[in-house]
Amino acid sequence: MDTPLTPFSTVIRTASHEQHTEAETSTFMGDMLGGRLGVDAYTRYTEQLWFVYRALEDGAQSLRDDPVAGPFIQPELLRVSELERDLAHLRGADWRTGLTPLPATAAYADRVAECARTWPGGYVAHHYTRYLGDLSGGQIIRGRAEQTWGFARKGDGVRFYVFEGISNPAAFKRSYRELLDGIDEVVADELERKRIVDECKNAFALNTAVFRELGEEFPLSA
Ligand code: HEM
Repeated sequence: MDTPLTPFSTVIRTASHEQHTEAETSTFMGDMLGGRLGVDAYTRYTEQLWFVYRALEDGAQSLRDDPVAGPFIQPELLRVSELERDLAHLRGADWRTGLTPLPATAAYADRVAECARTWPGGYVAHHYTRYLGDLSGGQIIRGRAEQTWGFARKGDGVRFYVFEGISNPAAFKRSYRELLDGIDEVVADELERKRIVDECKNAFALNTAVFRELGEEFPLSA
């Protein structure tokens, strides 16, 4: 269906659209954004993000000069230190003590690390799935979290969602999509581009699996 004329940013967005809806409407997300869960659930969710972003951002170092993944690696996106400030706020100064990933999170982080080590195209799929989502729906999540648990606007607890270095997210997303479209030039093989799209679907599935386990840990009593 997708001809070579379809921009890669459109191909990848269209291919993951259905799974995006699934992630967005997962029970855990719905309960969390609906204000039906306590701050402990939000904290546990933020902990999971820390494991995933550590894998993404540790992996970024060695990909800086890679022709496929390198252009995507931009310092204003980095989230680990923001997550650490949020976790210090949510869990206290010794936030690292006893921090464990859910099994689904460990699997997700392992896959990201594996892509970073062995497959730049796959890394791009994970990069897109997380950062473009954080710049989009992440803003909705931030607003709800501020409202529900009383975090200061754009303050500790929700810093993960605040991109201080990106003053115009819409423009940033446009240029990010241009980078995605440029993939056609560095990845000439259509089959390889398809593999990247499939990895993006895998990235969504890995996220959904984390939501599922979070949902099991925080079931609604009512
Ligand atoms: C309740 C949770 C979520 C909400 C409310 C939400 C909402 C949105 C919205 C409104 C957009 C469109 C923004 C635009 O057109 O510029 C978007 C885009 C996106 N979201 Fe989400 N989202 C959620 C969860 C997720 C999750 C869990 C992921 C994956 C980890 C994700 C990944 C993405 C990506 C990659 C895009 C960019 C699509 C593109 O334009 O290529 N989202 N989201």
